[in-house]
Amino acid sequence: MPPVKVLSVVSEIYPLIKTGGLADVAGALPGALGPEGVEVRSLVPGYPRVKAGIGKAEVVHRFDHLFGGPARLLAGKAAGLDLFVIDAPHLYDRSGGPYAGEDGKDFADNAQRYAALGVVASGIGLGLVPAFVPDVVHAHDWQAGLAPAYLHYSGGRRPGTVITIHNIAFQGQFPRQLMPALGLPAHAFAIDGVEYYGMIGYLKAGLQLSDRITTVSPGYAAEILLPEAGMGLDGLLNVRRSVLHGILNGLDEAVWNPASDPLIPRPFDARALKARAANKTALQVRLGLDPDPAALLFGVVSRLSWQKGLDLLAESLGALLDMGAQLAMLGSGDPYLAERFSSAARALPGRIGVELGYDEALAHLIQAGSDALLVPSRFEPCGLTQLSALRYGALPVVARVGGLADTVVDINEMARAAGVGTGIQFSPVTVPALQGALRRTGELWRDPPAWRRAQRNAMATDVSWRGPAAQYARLYRDLIAERAG
Ligand code: ADP
Ligand code: GLC
Repeated sequence: MPPVKVLSVVSEIYPLIKTGGLADVAGALPGALGPEGVEVRSLVPGYPRVKAGIGKAEVVHRFDHLFGGPARLLAGKAAGLDLFVIDAPHLYDRSGGPYAGEDGKDFADNAQRYAALGVVASGIGLGLVPAFVPDVVHAHDWQAGLAPAYLHYSGGRRPGTVITIHNIAFQGQFPRQLMPALGLPAHAFAIDGVEYYGMIGYLKAGLQLSDRITTVSPGYAAEILLPEAGMGLDGLLNVRRSVLHGILNGLDEAVWNPASDPLIPRPFDARALKARAANKTALQVRLGLDPDPAALLFGVVSRLSWQKGLDLLAESLGALLDMGAQLAMLGSGDPYLAERFSSAARALPGRIGVELGYDEALAHLIQAGSDALLVPSRFEPCGLTQLSALRYGALPVVARVGGLADTVVDINEMARAAGVGTGIQFSPVTVPALQGALRRTGELWRDPPAWRRAQRNAMATDVSWRGPAAQYARLYRDLIAERAG
């Protein structure tokens, strides 16, 4: 089979710049697609950290005007990734995160910053860089949503287009007055174009105008067809459901491998689970918890936001403590939630340990050292922390939604009797149901052989990118064949 060339268009990419799982996926999928005969280059904005990361780069194109200033398109490599980087200091050379400044407020010109991403992606799609003319342009989330739109309205011979929804809650809506500045034809502002409730919708545009739509789990693909989870886009998705696919995320096994992880004190595998205990002690010490091997230690690694349902956990701390359990939490985000957990930790230091902020090493230690990992999300397109938990033998305790429901096998009574199951699921996403799940986890903990069995099942789960990469490769090839007619 001839190799397939794909341009991945994305606003964050691990290890250069990351706010969440999107970066992990963007950073790992290209490598996983190589063995499938798919050659990927990723187009990313030239934030300071990206430019510092690529080092020596070649200028492959110059733009006189790209939304308010001159810009260059760079080609280079970083961390094994083949990158195109948009070097446009007036758009991307800022302190803070990719989307917001240090004050936490979104940049006022995000419409232009991500329209630029779309314009350049479309340019590359149409042959701007003769050395790499993609067969498929694959856009991720709203930030890349205009890429398929620019290609659609280009009128030229264009590559196939795919958009992946990582989170339908973020849609990128901007005032219609920007239409002339975006350089899209006026007729694009229509229900079958980029118009969305009187505004310009970047995600909506991508969903409307791409050849294929994917999302990051089959469960979420089904959920977003319903008004409860579609967040206003369920109508459009129902019309386009024949091109909507759910493909699970994988885990970057080079980054997340308990047997060789340099970020944990004691590497271990399923055959040497005893070694895991040293990581539990290290985690307890790190977060000021009583170093008690017998206490059931729950871990959390999460953004602190409504999506993640951690307010339900805050309401359940009494139940958790009544069981004699401990909590090790790493989180960043919502200051109200942060303060709720910090004050609980101040009140009960040996039992609740909380660290606020972003800390990769601690994230790994929590996976390696906690007994169970809590993910009580209200919705979860896929979720990656439950995948690393499986791999590290921390039993995932998850809400039965989206990708969480698809990746964790509930240890119900029958599963337990049969010796199958990899974690605990609960539903609905309420305080009583979460507390029920905490209690079920406690019961399993009091049966050490059953617990070890579950750990081994969890660690044997295939959470690699191999299966998902094969599905993406097939999707690209089907699309190319369809367009070749
Ligand atoms: P989302 O993208 O919705 O935040 P995912 O589970 O898909 O959720 O991905 C989250 C990623 O971010 C995982 O790689 C997780 O380990 C990491 N992560 C989340 N919070 C933190 C944190 N406070 N410090 C370090 N890593 C974190
Ligand atoms: C989003 C979702 C998360 C998913 C990640 C990567 O951030 O919230 O569930 O795992 O994207 O696809």
